[in-house]
Amino acid sequence: MVRLPFTSSTRGVPEAAQVPRHIAIIMDGNGRWARKRLMPRVAGHAKGVDSLREVIRTCLDRGVEYLTVFAFSSENWRRPKDEVSFLMQLFVKSLKAEIERIHRNNIRLRVVGDLAPFDKALVDLIGDGEALTAGNTKMNLTICANYGGRWDIMQAVDKMIAACGPREGGYAEDDLAPHLALSFSPEPDLFIRTGGETRISNFMLWQLAYSELYFTDKLWPEFGEAELDAAIASYQGRERRFGRTSEQVVGGADSSGSGHA
Ligand code: IPE
Ligand code: IPE
Ligand code: MG
Repeated sequence: MVRLPFTSSTRGVPEAAQVPRHIAIIMDGNGRWARKRLMPRVAGHAKGVDSLREVIRTCLDRGVEYLTVFAFSSENWRRPKDEVSFLMQLFVKSLKAEIERIHRNNIRLRVVGDLAPFDKALVDLIGDGEALTAGNTKMNLTICANYGGRWDIMQAVDKMIAACGPREGGYAEDDLAPHLALSFSPEPDLFIRTGGETRISNFMLWQLAYSELYFTDKLWPEFGEAELDAAIASYQGRERRFGRTSEQVVGGADSSGSGHA
């Protein structure tokens, strides 16, 4: 069995640091931001790239080790053709424009999702960016593109069965987890969704099991350093119990085992 370097929140009690080690963000509200300004929806996507740049910089400053952002969901193909094609072009353009800066800042880039339907030019660009930054160690930036939480679980199930073979007694969480697309990272400590909707929209369904959820009405193009700090401050005010009582948390109950008596 492959052992992951991180504690699963359902199998043990992960260490909770003051600064979230992993922040996952649904960057929502671009279209509404543009519409409010009587601009086409896609202008909001273009502006959203500036927010992402500022959030990456702030995460670097604050010592966040993993930043994962939802850029395009497996359901976003349902949008008008023109908008989908604009988003693809924006992805190419932004990768080209930002990859050097990402590399210079010692950030490791990964793109996670089903890349099969993307143009070869985009897939090659992603491969080049990942290869260029593969040795970087300051922060892990993961872009979820054509990603869905259910897709992730199903592709992991396929890989798990291929690796473990049919098993009489069934499989365990630890058999599946190493095959998930984000198995290189700990589970998110803090989940943020901008744009006012209070739903998960098929993002990181497995990994959000015990993440602290933060929803804000701010639209993604309005989200920057101050808004990220407000989210981190909210996180810092919470008590992460992972199933235990508050008294146990304050008393420093054993955090190593699975919790079984
Ligand atoms: C999020 O903004 C970006 C993507 C889904 C690609 P939206 O485009 O969903 O913006 P709203 O929610 O319509 O305002
Ligand atoms: C979620 O936003 C996906 C991304 C931000 C990439 P959506 O705008 O697609 O979510 P719904 O449709 O409102 O749930
Ligand atoms: Mg939306």
